[in-house]
Amino acid sequence: MVKHVLRGSDFLSLSGLSGNELEDFVYESCRLKKEGTKGFRPLSNRSIGLLFEKPSTRTRVSFEVAILSLGGHPLVLQAEELQMRRGETIEDTAKVLSRYLDGLVVRTFGQKRLESIAASSDIPVINALSDECHPCQALADMLTILEYKGEFRQLELSYLGDGNNVTHSLMRAGTKLGMNVHIATPCGHEPMDSIVSECEEYCEISGGSLKLTDEPFEAAENADILYTDVWVSMGSSEDADEARSKFLPFQVNEKMLEVASDDVIVMHCLPAHRGEEITDDVIDGSHSVVWDQAENRLHAQIALLAMIYG
Ligand code: CP
Repeated sequence: MVKHVLRGSDFLSLSGLSGNELEDFVYESCRLKKEGTKGFRPLSNRSIGLLFEKPSTRTRVSFEVAILSLGGHPLVLQAEELQMRRGETIEDTAKVLSRYLDGLVVRTFGQKRLESIAASSDIPVINALSDECHPCQALADMLTILEYKGEFRQLELSYLGDGNNVTHSLMRAGTKLGMNVHIATPCGHEPMDSIVSECEEYCEISGGSLKLTDEPFEAAENADILYTDVWVSMGSSEDADEARSKFLPFQVNEKMLEVASDDVIVMHCLPAHRGEEITDDVIDGSHSVVWDQAENRLHAQIALLAMIYG
């Protein structure tokens, strides 16, 4: 059971969960969302730090609300306001924080840096986005897909845009759950090879598939889910104008919807750059589920915290 796997553990990526455990998690988060958390206080008398080295709207606020709703006390720790700004190492910071806190939600740069924070602290550490992956986003994405599609297996999940941290977690989740995942990126923006290989192994177990292409219309054809994200990921130094022209054919717009399934849902992890990776008419249109998807960050994280501390 996924509860036993997550209890008292770090949550640094989706790699540690089997397909069945991930599916179990999504159904449990769906149940908690419907039934609510009234009277359920696994974080009572517990303080959880939110250590952010990058900006955030959804992740930070939804974690704060999730912690409060489970009876806990959230402490927002912006890195620039800590002694880290004056050179204290992240490992020393994590060691000290783990003497005061019961958990640490961390948004940082490299996955190695995140792993180092986790190794330096003896409290659960949760990945709130690293340069490599965004597993909490994928949990909310899978909850949203379940709500709209009622199942996972053999769904056509197509991602168009930059092969970034969100893509990596989406690929892991989709292939673990038996979906046919199509990733369309411009040349030079493909997902990491090691994560592609990992996902191919998941497909062998789940019966799903993974295809990479640089042809956006090929990926979008018959898609049940069309997913996109900003073209230049946070932390990337690529020139914005150059990226824009390279990525324009990957824009999710009305033309792209025409080749997808009639009941396609459009997803975006947000924040969106309207008029770039997605047009106004699509993000505000009848196929878009992005606001439910954003809300589900809260519900998925309530379920995650409930399982880690339950
Ligand atoms: N999707 C996401 O992680 O949003 P924030 O950067 O606002 O947290």
